[in-house]
Parts: sequence; structure tokens; C-alpha cells
Amino acid sequence: MNITNDILYIGVVDNKLDLFEGQYKIPNGISYNSYLIIDDKIALMDTVEINYKDEWIDKLESSLKGRSIDYLIIHHMEPDHSSNIIEIVNKYPNITLVASKQAFIMMNNFFDYEFNNKIIVKEGDSLSLGKHKLVFISASMVHWPEVIMSYDSYDKVLFSADAFGTFGVNINSWNDEARRYYFGIVGKYGEQVKALLMKIKDLNINYICSLHGPILNKNIQNYLTLYNKWSNYECEDDGVTIAYTSMYGNTRQAALLLKEKLHQEGIKKVSIYDLIRDDIFEAVSSAFRYSTLILATTTYNGDIFPTMKHFIQYLSDRNYQKRNIGFIENGSWAPIANKRMKELFSDLKNIHYLNINVRILSSLNDISIKQIEMLKEEILNERRR
Ligand code: FEO
Repeated sequence: MNITNDILYIGVVDNKLDLFEGQYKIPNGISYNSYLIIDDKIALMDTVEINYKDEWIDKLESSLKGRSIDYLIIHHMEPDHSSNIIEIVNKYPNITLVASKQAFIMMNNFFDYEFNNKIIVKEGDSLSLGKHKLVFISASMVHWPEVIMSYDSYDKVLFSADAFGTFGVNINSWNDEARRYYFGIVGKYGEQVKALLMKIKDLNINYICSLHGPILNKNIQNYLTLYNKWSNYECEDDGVTIAYTSMYGNTRQAALLLKEKLHQEGIKKVSIYDLIRDDIFEAVSSAFRYSTLILATTTYNGDIFPTMKHFIQYLSDRNYQKRNIGFIENGSWAPIANKRMKELFSDLKNIHYLNINVRILSSLNDISIKQIEMLKEEILNERRR
């Protein structure tokens, strides 16, 4: 598939993998993107995941139409993109590998192989292919430390490594799939993403070619704006995420009651997640999307229900901040879940805790229903501030 006259897409789709990086559910699959720039010299931009070698090599060979490859540009060493490097070097022995210094160290670690033809590039270095000239941009920690991006000034293409990538294939909502992907893999590294955005802000970009998901060629500013928001940990929407665990359905009932009350007040942007049964990383993504997070769980073994603990850890690992957080606890004796949940957030900055803490003693009663009403009122007041 041609992206421009000289740039071809030769990526593959993985519909077999259940968990990306061993943890993220990908019910709509994922693509491993790879590109070719055909010029006086030919550059191959990254390889694909090892299981898709044959399909990818077929695409590569038919696109080359008998020519050879001069350069393999390695933007990122994570195996979903790098695991066919040896295959390519064996197939095209005169090829020159182009990557960051740290990427070459990783190559030795992954493959225990000494590459002869290599060019180490760093921020600002360039490589001429003919008409096309690639300028390299260091993007450390977006997503690994060795990452580089490249910008082709001829067709105004940013080869962005994992950045601006998404889970899924033929996706309905770029925002949803890209957000889940972003906060899954680089949520912790907001500062590094901000640094990258500063570097690319003056580039004239017609296409963003990421290593996953669609090629972006319209409304480029929209994607940059979202990345700016995400890297600054700002919410996208004034909405509410309710995340709960429930052992016998009573905590669930409280969570649903709060959702219903918010809906009755006209608040439509409310997402609710059963952290055991739903995709917990969808819940993480929603928590970063909306301005308010309500957590509801049970007291369990003198602590809180383990899955809620994991959920808070996932948020904490990703520098969760700049949100309102409220708590609902359930306990048949000695309830302490609200206190414990708040303690688990104690290392995080810029969190505003709602004043109303709901306490359920086994099941909802008039007192706890009244507390949920008050919590709803406080959420509404926060929205009006
Ligand atoms: Fe798609 Fe960080 O690899």
C-alpha cells in the first residue's frame, strides 16, 4: 500500500495474540507497522513480530521489485518490531543498520551478534536517501530508552516509533484505543513525552507513521493536542469513572446507584467498571480520561480487596494526578477500606479528595443511600467550581 509516491506500508495484522506485552487485552488485534522508502537508496523502517515473518517478507519482496535494501532503520528494539533483524541481515548481507547507540547495545543482548555495517545516530543526525532525507529525533522512554524517531522532510512524514500508536485494527475510536495504549505503555513518562512534543512542535507533519495502528494524515494537530493533554495528566472530559469490586453484589449496587443518580442529573459521561470482570486497563484509561474517579470496594483480610489494590497500583505506577477522587467502602465488621485506599494514593501529588466518604455496613440502608446522595452532590459541586 502506497502512503506517498515513495513510501510504502508493509505492516502486518496480529489477530491471534490475546495479551499484548503479556497483560493488555487486544480483542481487536494489533498491527505491527513497517514501511519502505524507495529512493536512490532504499530504507526499511523497522521489522515486525517474529510470528509474522513470512507474510511480512512476502510483502517486502514484492514491494522491492527486485531491488535490495540499503538501510534498516531501527527506531525501537522491543521485540514486536525488532525480532526479524537477523532475518533481514542474513537476507540482505550488505545492508547497513541505523539505530541509536543504546539500540545497538540491546541488539547484542537480544541476538548475541556482532553487526558489521552500522551507523549510530543521535539527535539531529541525518541520512540522505536521495530526495528523501531523514533527520533523527531522540525519544528516550517513549517507549524504551533507545527509541529514535525520524522525520522525512520531503514527504513530511514523522516515523514516530510507538508514539501515536493504538491497539486494535480498523478501530472505531482512535482516542479510546490510543489512550488505552498510551497510558498502558508510557503513562509513567509524561515528562519524556512532553520533551518529545517540544522537539516536534515546529515540524511540518503531513503523516504520522507509528509502529501500531492507523497512519495518521488528517487533523494532525488533534493528535498532538491529545498527547499534550495526556503527558500533562490533564483530563479530556468532565466525567466520572466508577471502579468497583463486589463480593456479594452490595458494593456493586452502591456503584450502580451512584451512576444512576449522576445520570438523573444529566451527567452522561459516567463509565463504570467491575474491576474483576471488565478489562482493568479500560478502567485505567477511563480514570485518565475523566476528571473524577470514585472507587468502591470491600474491606478484606484487614485490608482492601486485592484487585482494587492492583488497580490503585496501576494508577500510581502511571503518575495519576490532577483528579478528584472519592471512596465508597463496604465492611460487615471493622470497615477500613476508605482509609486504606486513601493511604495507597498517599505518594501521589495533585489529588483532590472528595469530602464525602460512603460507608456501607454489609448492604445499602437509608444512611448509606443518603451518603451516596451527598457524594453525588459533591461531585456536581466540583463540576461547577
Ligand atoms: Fe510496540 Fe514498545 O513496542
